[in-house]
Amino acid sequence: MTTMTRPETRAAVASKYAAIMMKRCRELAQCTETPGEILRTFLSPAMEEVHRRVQPWMEAAGMAVVVDRAGNLRGVAPASGSDQLPRLLIGSHLDTVPNAGAYDGVLGVVTGLALVEASAEQKYPFAIEVIGFSDEEGTRFGAPFLGSRAVVGDLRGKLLECVDGKGVSVAEAVTHYAAQRPATVEATLSAKSAAYLEFHIEQGPVLENKNLALGIVEGLAGQSRCRVEFHGHAGHAGTNPMKLRKDALAGGAEWMTRVEQITAHFENAVATIGQISVEPGGVNVIPGLVRCSLDVRHAEDSVRTALVQALFCEASAVGAKRGLDVDAEQYHEHAAVRLDPGLVAMAEQAAACAGYSTIRMTSGAGHDAMVIAPHVPSAMVFLRNPGGISHHPDESAKEEDVAAAIHLGLCFLDRFAEYVTEKEKNRA
Ligand code: GLV
Ligand code: MN
Ligand code: MN
Repeated sequence: MTTMTRPETRAAVASKYAAIMMKRCRELAQCTETPGEILRTFLSPAMEEVHRRVQPWMEAAGMAVVVDRAGNLRGVAPASGSDQLPRLLIGSHLDTVPNAGAYDGVLGVVTGLALVEASAEQKYPFAIEVIGFSDEEGTRFGAPFLGSRAVVGDLRGKLLECVDGKGVSVAEAVTHYAAQRPATVEATLSAKSAAYLEFHIEQGPVLENKNLALGIVEGLAGQSRCRVEFHGHAGHAGTNPMKLRKDALAGGAEWMTRVEQITAHFENAVATIGQISVEPGGVNVIPGLVRCSLDVRHAEDSVRTALVQALFCEASAVGAKRGLDVDAEQYHEHAAVRLDPGLVAMAEQAAACAGYSTIRMTSGAGHDAMVIAPHVPSAMVFLRNPGGISHHPDESAKEEDVAAAIHLGLCFLDRFAEYVTEKEKNRA
């Protein structure tokens, strides 16, 4: 293995690739399902357009590129030496929330590619697989992580029954996608996968407040996604006295304000109702049905579970008081995850070697690392996110922080090479 020794050389390389990456993120933001804003969902034509643009970049970097049957884009840069050497996975997601920014997910994928490009001269004793996961946000089906779950063999059970806005199920969408694309390969994790590294904007204000470019993630909060429905009676808005109504929206609204109050009693917990729909939806019709989404998160699974129960109980109490029927179900749950202590320390040391101070952080946002970590030792690096603005078109990243991330990444590759070499030696 050869290493670049002069730190200023490496900083210059990182700066060069940071500029390229910022340009790539902006270019990929043009791939959208909704003109005028960024939206890319699982298995959509906009996602295929992203693949068409990223694939030649990967190939030019000497990578073998495939798309798997769950729509994940995967490029492998071979190890120097035997095919049997371990593989370092570097990835994030290429899908977005509605009206998204240009960096959430995409930045992590282009960072993986930039690390392959920037280390082209190095001879590492491991292959690098860069993965652009097809779904992390869950925008199309409500359930997140479909891409990474497919890779770890966890796209199954009830998850396959989730339907999109057109009534198409996950199972139907995946079957159709693969059938139309015979070149796609099975969505599996290579048995040689030795570690997973994900770079992501922080999506919050902590690093900016601490004046730090980078943070090292050591754990991710668990999350629950739920549906809560209030069933009342639709009726004439002019003829039904207020006291005789069963207004589903009035009940839903009362519950929503209680969600905010109850969650405040659970320290560090967050609960969000991001979607509501009202039926039949006439200006002069009393709402008969309200459907609400509910997203609950906490770093301790027991706290999150207790909060979900408390919010469901409150929905029942509001329903009982108002004569409404309430249906509440949790349709997706992901336990809190601790990342691999050894790799977390390696990322921290790589940051120090690149000249950056870091803090350890817990992510409130969900990331593909949550799904991969139980299968492959994983680490995550956060980049400062100006204004903490994310899931919003004003989301941004600073080019100098992107350069810091690449610099960290190059130092990480050196350390990982030493770790792999040591491990192979001990095995022999
Ligand atoms: C994705 O960004 C999530 O945390 O829901
Ligand atoms: Mn993301
Ligand atoms: Mn996101």
